Amino acid sequence: MPSYNILLLGSGGRESAIAWKLQQSPLCKNLFIAPGNPGTAQYGTNITLSVMDFEAIKKTCLDNKIDIVFSGPEDPLVAGFYDFFQNDSALRHIFVAGPSKEGAQLEGSKAFSKKFMQRHHIPTAAYREFTEANFEEGINYLKQHALPIVLKADGLAAGKGVVIAQTTNEAVEAFTAMIKESQFGDASKKVVVEEFLDGIELSVFVMTDGTHYILLPEAKDYKRIGEGDTGPNTGGMGAVSPVPFADNNFMKKVIQQIVEPTVNGLQKENITYKGIIFIGLIKVNGDPYVIEYNCRMGDPETEVVMPRLQNDLVDLLVKMKEGKLNEAIPQHDARTACTVMLVSEGYPGNYPKGRIMTGFEKVQNSILFHAGTTKKENEIVTNGGRVLAITSLGNNIKEALATSYSNAELIEYEGKYYRKDIGYEFL
Ligand code: AMP
Ligand code: GLY
Repeated sequence: MPSYNILLLGSGGRESAIAWKLQQSPLCKNLFIAPGNPGTAQYGTNITLSVMDFEAIKKTCLDNKIDIVFSGPEDPLVAGFYDFFQNDSALRHIFVAGPSKEGAQLEGSKAFSKKFMQRHHIPTAAYREFTEANFEEGINYLKQHALPIVLKADGLAAGKGVVIAQTTNEAVEAFTAMIKESQFGDASKKVVVEEFLDGIELSVFVMTDGTHYILLPEAKDYKRIGEGDTGPNTGGMGAVSPVPFADNNFMKKVIQQIVEPTVNGLQKENITYKGIIFIGLIKVNGDPYVIEYNCRMGDPETEVVMPRLQNDLVDLLVKMKEGKLNEAIPQHDARTACTVMLVSEGYPGNYPKGRIMTGFEKVQNSILFHAGTTKKENEIVTNGGRVLAITSLGNNIKEALATSYSNAELIEYEGKYYRKDIGYEFL
């Protein structure tokens, strides 16, 4: 049986879950995670480097005879990581499981993705795009538009580039800050203004080899810091999978109206894309609309997707490389997975780091996916806003959550916070 040396880029809870899954495969010879965290060190070898330092990644790949590279975060892909490997004869044989720079624009440019959806008749919110050149027209557009109204910085803005304005004044202010004051740097030189869609959100994960695709388990994440979905947006406070409203009938619409036109559209336009397409969608009156595309897995969705994915992940990556995903039969655990994210007090604003964490050994029946943790003198300490994802499987959401919540009590550090209402609308 062939086996592969694999390099996984990233250091969050998502990467912990991917590393956990990869190392279970008999096809995985050696797993490296760069830079990783104390959690990923349980599953492979951490290598200290920045995911944007392509030369350092090149050296790591050659030193360790890497066969497959998988990027957790979007930044390297949007910056042309795939193309960097293709354009280097020393690296070309290595499979980058991720889209080309052009394909990654589905996430890297909201304007690109909106135009792509228009070309392929994929349902999404109506929109206009504006820059400095048509700024005044933009202001007038905002003034006559229904409320609320959604403004999005075109480029990557670390998840902060979306404003949902409740008043025209707020919209004009945000629009002006983005375009005139470069609030998000170059990312907000162009702004997409779109209609507000009122519904319930779902994260759909498509794995494609450029021709065929399979769906990974779907998930729903909880983005707001406060219970009842209140307060500022975070990177994600928890997730559940499967999602009760994503029944067969709805998923059939998602596949026909969104997934297939997306995969076929990329192929028709000759956009090289062997990787993950994460479709953030919203269900409005029974129909799905795309909110956004991402070119990577979601966090914390991955922490519930991987535990439910029964296929060998390395085998799927190899089939992706070879254009044989049509030969894969998706297998999902019928049980429910829930994850609860423990965060640092103050998050998503300023938060302390270096708080000593204890209680890991007391945890039973959950998987702990480290996110913002680090090791300091043989102790695990907090090192980020989102600290630890606690994932459990159960026969239903209630059961899975009960296990995660009882274990959340056992992990201790000063300033621990977590939402106690993950999955609330399904209970
Ligand atoms: P994004 O960065 O595109 O994921 O947007 C962040 C969040 O803003 C999404 O997860 C949605 O909750 C919300 N959002 C974005 N676009 C819309 C829209 N057109 N209508 C309603 N909510 C939206
Ligand atoms: N959980 C949403 C994201 O990863 O963008």
